[in-house]
Amino acid sequence: MEMENMVMVDLYTQIFKRKSIRDYDLTPMESVALEKVVEQIKNLKPLYDDINVEFKIVSQNDVNQRMMKKAPHYIVVFSENKEGYKTNVGFMLQQMDLFFSASGLGSCWQGIPKPKKQVLESSDLEFVILMAFGRTNTQLHRTSNLEFKRKPLSKISDIKTEGDLGELLEAARLAPSATNSQPWFFKGDNHIIHAYAVKPNILRAIMLKKYILIDMGIALYHLKLAAEHLEKTNQIIFDETGSKSTPPRYEYVASLKID
Ligand SMILES: Cc1cc2nc3c(=O)[nH]c(=O)nc-3n(C[C@H](O)[C@H](O)[C@H](O)COP(=O)(O)O)c2cc1C
Repeated sequence: MEMENMVMVDLYTQIFKRKSIRDYDLTPMESVALEKVVEQIKNLKPLYDDINVEFKIVSQNDVNQRMMKKAPHYIVVFSENKEGYKTNVGFMLQQMDLFFSASGLGSCWQGIPKPKKQVLESSDLEFVILMAFGRTNTQLHRTSNLEFKRKPLSKISDIKTEGDLGELLEAARLAPSATNSQPWFFKGDNHIIHAYAVKPNILRAIMLKKYILIDMGIALYHLKLAAEHLEKTNQIIFDETGSKSTPPRYEYVASLKID
C-alpha cells in the first residue's frame, strides 16, 4: 500500500515545475497532512544503503531561522558521517522536495538556518541540513523552463545531447543547488553518465564547500528519475574510467549506468 502511494505521485514532472518557496502560511498543518509527509519519508530511496540516516519533522519554534523567513514545518536530516553521506542526503531529501511540489505544498532547502540545541541533541547522528515546508499563498509552480535560472547544457556537459541523453541531462540541469551555484559537470555517452563536482576556489569554498556534495546528490536524483521515466534500466555506481577522466578542478562523484 505504501509503495503504491509512492508510485502514484509522479515526481518526474515536478522537475520542470518546482521552485523554492520562501513565503509560507505559518498556520501549522493538520496532523493528517503531516502523517502523509511521515509516510513519504519512510519510502525514500537511499543512494547508498549502508549509511544510517534519520529524518525528523519539527516546527518553526525548533529552528533558528538566522535571517531566513519562517516556515511552519521543517524536515531535519541527520546522518552518519561516512564517505558519500552528503551526496546520499541530497539524493534522499530531493525526493521530498519533488513530493511537496506534487502535493501542492511549498518547500525550500535551508542551508543557513539551524535546529535548536534540543533538536541537535535528540539524535546520535550528525546534523546535515534542513528543508522548510508548508502551505503557501504564493505561486507554487513554474510554468516554463525559461523561469529557471540555470546554466545552459553546454556549460555543464561536453556530451553530445541528442534524444534520450538530452532529456537526462536536462533533468539534472534544472536541479536546485545552494546559492544556485550548479557545481556539476557531466561526461559520458549513451551507456554511462559521469558526474563531477567543481572544486571551488578558496573564497568560494568557505561559502559553498558544505553544500556541493548535497547539490550533487540532488542532481544525481534528477538524472536517475529521468532514466526511470524513459524506462531505462539504471544504476548509480563508482566507475573507474569515470574517475580517471576527471576534468581539472573537478572531483569525481559517481556515474549513472544506463541500458
Ligand atoms: C543545499 C541547499 C541549501 C540551500 N540553502 C538555502 C537557504 O539557506 N536559504 C534559501 O533561501 N535558499 C536556500 N536554498 C535554495 C537555493 O537558493 C535554490 O534552490 C536555488 O537558488 C535555485 O532556485 P529554485 O530552487 O527556485 O529553482 C538552498 C538550496 C540547496 C540545494
